[in-house]
Amino acid sequence: MNKKTGGLAGLIVGDTAISTVGKEGLDLTYRGYSIHDLASESTFEEVAYLLIYGALPNKTQLIDYKKKLISLRELPAELKSILEKLPANTNPMDVLRTGCSALGCFEPESQQFHQQDIADKLIACVPGILLYWYHFHQNGKSISTTCNEDTIAGYFLYLLRGSKPNEEQRRAVDVSLILYAEHEFNASTFAARVTTSTESDFYSAIVSGIGTLRGPLHGGANEAAMELVSQFKTPDEAEKGIRALLEKKAKIMGFGHRVYKISDPRSDIIKKWSKALSANAKDGYLYAVSERIEKIMWDEKHLFPNLDFYSATTYHFCGIPTQLFTPLFVMSRLSGWSAHIIEQREDNRLIRPEANYIGPEPRAYIPLIDRG
Ligand code: ACO
Repeated sequence: MNKKTGGLAGLIVGDTAISTVGKEGLDLTYRGYSIHDLASESTFEEVAYLLIYGALPNKTQLIDYKKKLISLRELPAELKSILEKLPANTNPMDVLRTGCSALGCFEPESQQFHQQDIADKLIACVPGILLYWYHFHQNGKSISTTCNEDTIAGYFLYLLRGSKPNEEQRRAVDVSLILYAEHEFNASTFAARVTTSTESDFYSAIVSGIGTLRGPLHGGANEAAMELVSQFKTPDEAEKGIRALLEKKAKIMGFGHRVYKISDPRSDIIKKWSKALSANAKDGYLYAVSERIEKIMWDEKHLFPNLDFYSATTYHFCGIPTQLFTPLFVMSRLSGWSAHIIEQREDNRLIRPEANYIGPEPRAYIPLIDRG
């Protein structure tokens, strides 16, 4: 791998008015608003509206937007039938990839379904797609995907458990959705923009994003971080285990970042939620385990936790199964992907870079009969 061009590191490949990441090495803003203000003052619905429609909603706009999202929660019967036919052991990210793609067959982008309506529909019904499939295969139940919980976080937790969520957990998930919503030209957003640049449809761009987010170097890291943290019962055990992994040159999931050089500004916000929730969790010791891993990673490698690291225990302490962590990332990032698809279309040019060829020089063709 050519260190200079590998992974497009450090290359500016386009303009955006949606977010800034890592200016001065550490900040994050969505349409000019600091992530700290958004996470403490806003709800995910306000942030999704900000990203997709370009401005924070006023009170009436927010009420109408929430009503719209609630009204879009029903899934087409044919989509439920597809979800029922998927294997019980399907990776939940594949369920979302398939579910969004299938929805694009039933409600394709058209005069009737405009881009912002599709964005809203996907944000509204992706929790239902995931949890309809989950309950059908885990518990043999066909759940109703409609309910009056008026936030996406509350809706997700309600569908997961079938009862009204506890407010602390609901807000923790709400804040995590705000933090995961948008991150400039990250791999999945870039994939969505590349697909958009060919003048493909909205759903295809979203499906590209989901497929790209799935990997452990990107969205899949929150699940991988949970698997790592849950191996240890005490901080001392964790220290020994992490040192052994570093010795073997293993990657520690949930650490490091391509753009941030000092810290991930989202990490301290979600870390506070992990700490607060650990107080009432049966395995709350995992917070102390995580803190020790953070210390060792800093002491040994000068690497800091990214958003995925403490999101893992935050979700775990809310009683969310690990296999649903990366799908939660999708539920949130749908808003950022949608904003970027809309922005790409406003001033589109086909995204088509060039490669540095390192293969053989031109040579004579060998007919099949002469090949050994
Ligand atoms: N654990 C151990 N070492 C690491 C880690 C890590 N998590 N991250 C980076 N390093 C080391 C690399 O081994 C490399 O060392 P070397 O120069 O001696 O070979 C050096 O730091 C640079 O790392 P790269 O992988 O080249 O950095 P890159 O910018 O390509 O990757 C990435 C960034 C993918 C996030 C990387 O840090 C990583 O794999 N982290 C773990 C996965 C993860 O947490 N992903 C989530 C990203 S954030 C998000 O999606 C919300």
